[in-house]
Amino acid sequence: MDTIKDMYQKAEAERESKIVPSAFSVALWKHKGEEGALIPLLQAAQTQYSYIPESAIHRISAVTDIPASEIYGVVTFYTQFKLTPPGKYIIRVCDGTACHVNGSMTILNVITGILDVEVDETTKDGLFTLQPVACLGCCSLAPVMMIGDETYGRLNPGTIKNILKAYSENESNN
Ligand code: FES
Repeated sequence: MDTIKDMYQKAEAERESKIVPSAFSVALWKHKGEEGALIPLLQAAQTQYSYIPESAIHRISAVTDIPASEIYGVVTFYTQFKLTPPGKYIIRVCDGTACHVNGSMTILNVITGILDVEVDETTKDGLFTLQPVACLGCCSLAPVMMIGDETYGRLNPGTIKNILKAYSENESNN
């Protein structure tokens, strides 16, 4: 008959067997001690967290033997890597050809003005991150932006103001 300790250990083993390691953890095991693993590991961390947290830098440092200070240098060199978490909503403003000729730069400027945020930065309240992107695939609606998974087309300064206001109001009501 199992003692309480046995039962506890079985329960713990069962719980642990159900824990699915994150893709970043898998990448750390896979690339441990491997030369040239830094960029793939940073990409795995960026994919996992949408930015590179400090803890990820230290974990990468531990498996690659590259000093954390050196990893910070690499992270800040490449624009694909971010050291701060993205906002709750990513605003993707299309600057593909169709959107560009239909005023995407004006759209971008209007958004930076309303939200007081620069391109590739996040608003102080952590709600929005602004990113210009290439064609979003719905050129007939140019100029276009996406907020999260929602697409907004045929934008003009007035519609943008209303759309952003709706998001902010929705947040303050939650
Ligand atoms: S160019 Fe903007 S959606 Fe295609």
